[in-house]
Amino acid sequence: MKGVLLAGGTGSRLYPITHTGPKQLVPIANKPVLDYAIEDFIDAGITDIGVILGNKGREAIQQHLGDGSDYGVDITYIIQGDPLGLAHAVGCAKEFVGDESFVVYLGDDLMREGIEEMVADFDPEEYAAGIGLQEVDEPSRYGVVGRNDDDDIVELAEKPDDPPSNLALIGIYVFTPEIFDQIEALEPSWRGELEITDAIQGLLDDDRRVQSHVVHGWWKDTGKPSDVLHANRLVLDAIDRNLAGTVENKESVIGRVELHEGAVIENGAVVRGPVSIGADTRIGSGSYIGPYTSIGENSEIDNAHIEASVTMGDNEITADRTIVDSLIGRQAAITSSEDKQPTGDRMVIGRNSTLEL
Ligand code: G1P
Repeated sequence: MKGVLLAGGTGSRLYPITHTGPKQLVPIANKPVLDYAIEDFIDAGITDIGVILGNKGREAIQQHLGDGSDYGVDITYIIQGDPLGLAHAVGCAKEFVGDESFVVYLGDDLMREGIEEMVADFDPEEYAAGIGLQEVDEPSRYGVVGRNDDDDIVELAEKPDDPPSNLALIGIYVFTPEIFDQIEALEPSWRGELEITDAIQGLLDDDRRVQSHVVHGWWKDTGKPSDVLHANRLVLDAIDRNLAGTVENKESVIGRVELHEGAVIENGAVVRGPVSIGADTRIGSGSYIGPYTSIGENSEIDNAHIEASVTMGDNEITADRTIVDSLIGRQAAITSSEDKQPTGDRMVIGRNSTLEL
C-alpha cells in the first residue's frame, strides 16, 4: 500500500509562527510534526510515500524530508499549489497511487497509537474507504459521522451545526481508487473548499460501504498554538530520561529529561522533566526549565524560568522572567533591558503576534 501525506495548507491559525515556515515543521519535543506521520507510515509497513505540497513552505519541507532515504522511505513530491481543500489535495495523488488502495494522513495531525491497526484491518473487498474516528467535545469543529445501530456509517457532515454524533474524523483515511471519481464530481463547500468528507459521503450515496476505526489513544490536530502546546505535553508524557549532552550537576536535572547531543545544562541550572532540550543548546546557570517544556536546538537560555512551553530553536532567552504556556518561534530573542533607561518592556513584535503580559 502507498501513503499520501498532505503537507499543504496556509497554517493561518498558527500565525505568526507560520509566516516563516510550514505548520508541518513545527517541532513537538524537538521533532517536526511531519516526522511523526512518517514514522507511523513506516510502522504500518508503508514506505512508498507521496507528499502533497501547497505553495507555503514547499522548499522547507522538501529540504527537510529530502528523498526520504534518511528515514528509509521513498518520497515522491506532488504539487497541489493553491489550497483548494483536502479532497483537491487527495485528487492530486491519482497518478501516484494508480490502482492500489492507499492511506491518507494529514501532515499536521499527531496520534499516539499510530495507523498500523487501521491499515491492517482495512478490507477493500467489502469497503470503498476506511476512516479513523475519535470522540470529541466539540464535534462542530470537525468532520462528523452518523452511525446506525450496527455501527455502520450512514452519513458524514463537515463542521455541522447539528452534529449527528460526537465521533469526529481524525484525518486518517484509507481509500480505494474509487474515491477519485467522487472527488471529480465535487462542488466547493460553504467554506469554498473541496471537502474529503463530501467525497466519502458520495461513496455512501452510491451504496458503497465505509469502514470505521475508532481511535482510543490521544489524537491531536496541531492547528492552533494551544494545540501545539497540548501535543507537546502529550508527547513529553511518554519520553524517557536520556542525557546525550553534558550535565554539569546531575542532581539538578530531575526526572524524565531528554538532552540532545552537544547540549549543556550548566551547574546552577535546574531542569525538571518531562523536558526535551535540543542539540547544541546551552541552559545557563541562572535558568529553570519546568515540566512540559521543549527547548529547541542551538539556543542560549539563561536567567529565565520557562514552563509548559515550546521554543522552536535558534533562540536567545536571557531575560529574568517567568515564561509559561508560550510558543516561541525560531530565532526569536527575549533578552533583558534592565540597565536601560527608561525602564520598560522593549519589543519588536511581528504581525499576528500575541503577548499576554
Ligand atoms: C479537516 C477535515 C475534518 C477533520 C479534521 C481533522 O478539517 O476537513 O473533516 O475532522 O481535518 O483534523 P480542517 O483542519 O480542514 O478544518
